[in-house]
Amino acid sequence: MHEEAITIHIDPVVSAPKIAPTDSALPTKALFIQTYGCQMNVYDSERMADLLRPLGYRATDKPDQADLVVLNTCHIREKATEKVYSEIGRLKAHKDRLALVGKKMTIAIAGCVAQAQGEEIMRRAPCVDLVVGPQAYHKLPELIAQAARTTGERLDTRFEAVEKFDALPSKRTPDGPTAFLSIQEGCDKFCTFCVVPYTRGAEFSRGVDSILLEAEGLARQGVRELTLLGQNVNAYHGQTGHKTWSLAQLVRALAKIDGIERIRYTTSHPSDMSDDLIEAHGEVPELMPYLHLPVQTGSNKILKAMNRKHSVETYLETIAAMRKARPDIALASDFIVGFPGETEQDFEDTMELVRSVGYAGAYSFKYSRRPGTPASDLPEQVPSDVADNRLQRLQALILEQQRAFNETKVGQSFDVLFTGPGRNAGQILGRSPWLQSVHAQGPHSLIGGLHRVRIIGQMSNSLTGVLVDAI
Ligand code: SAH
Ligand code: SF4
Ligand code: F3S
Repeated sequence: MHEEAITIHIDPVVSAPKIAPTDSALPTKALFIQTYGCQMNVYDSERMADLLRPLGYRATDKPDQADLVVLNTCHIREKATEKVYSEIGRLKAHKDRLALVGKKMTIAIAGCVAQAQGEEIMRRAPCVDLVVGPQAYHKLPELIAQAARTTGERLDTRFEAVEKFDALPSKRTPDGPTAFLSIQEGCDKFCTFCVVPYTRGAEFSRGVDSILLEAEGLARQGVRELTLLGQNVNAYHGQTGHKTWSLAQLVRALAKIDGIERIRYTTSHPSDMSDDLIEAHGEVPELMPYLHLPVQTGSNKILKAMNRKHSVETYLETIAAMRKARPDIALASDFIVGFPGETEQDFEDTMELVRSVGYAGAYSFKYSRRPGTPASDLPEQVPSDVADNRLQRLQALILEQQRAFNETKVGQSFDVLFTGPGRNAGQILGRSPWLQSVHAQGPHSLIGGLHRVRIIGQMSNSLTGVLVDAI
């Protein structure tokens, strides 16, 4: 998810979704989608591919030969945004080359940079044919047609989350036994460093029935593990009839779907970790023992300046309650170092918090000043070299904890969900309940299912094991 992350996740940093061959009789067109940022963007890219499939688009991994290129962008840190403009430059060269042989390449910019800087992109990069925000991408087919005619709107960054979910095709094409499922979007928390409330809009929970329908469809197509997505997923409050369900109620209903054997959710806010959700971790075996609960910093002073709405103490209480409900829960977090006003003591408080929690992994970032956010105007911006040094120290500690956590699994046996072939011949790759990558020798016929594995070793950020049935 993030370039400077230390993590036990196996999530892609940048990915192109696999798209099944088209089922229509239309002439096929080549589609290249590049995804940056968080899992919500990965989900959105898959949904864009679903929308475009009936129009004859099929996947290519060669941007230089594509009829349509979609950059699904991320605005979270400056570096992420800069990447978009350099990538547009590369695409322009491909587009110009294709034009020489009479072929047209359409360039579409989607995602959070599109939302934040749509008009600027159109102005700065005339080679871009259309711009579509994260809540408007269901209009992509219409916008493509308009761009081809060079009449009508070519920019759509309206916020209509309800309409978007209703307009997306019900059919999905899962790529293996794990799938993302967006259940909530946007954020009302307004942490002072963060652009998400501006790029994704106000918090919106999708209705229960459409989520269950999508999950049932995925299960029928072989999905065994669902990851429920939202910027504040544990603030979920979706409607079913006249009732409002919490995330815990939704999880309990999803766990009853035939074929769904594992459920995860991300990302949670510490102040929305309700008692019923913590209880569900103790009672629903499908709910995996892994929780990504970003704390950002171990200093109460900085938490307040960040407008985080939780303190170090309430965070630790939540973790203690989680560990009571589910003793084998693995914890992960996000950290920002070098937030304006962060002193050496504040940073030490973060290190102390990390030592006292003991994480299975974490993402850590150097504070990036985002125009338009309240923190960007704060005095006392921390010098870059000071923040770099703190980041290094924090990442070293997290890496040590990650290795220690992985080590606790050596000698244990548990179910692994095999998701694909491994790096070496005869190897298959899967996921542990704690989201670690697990390599084992085994036939490809096991991919797609859960199989018991005994862990015999760990590499830097994955485990190796042997299939118990094969011993
Ligand atoms: N909604 C989620 C995550 C949103 S963004 C949450 O609240 O946890 C993912 C992570 O990016 C954040 O947790 C934060 O650690 C980091 N991040 C966000 N804005 C940032 C900024 N301006 N500079 C550095 N890191 C940032
Ligand atoms: Fe950003 Fe804070 Fe909302 Fe997370 S909770 S998306 S960090 S504003
Ligand atoms: Fe990036 Fe937007 Fe996700 S800013 S982290 S792609 S919500």
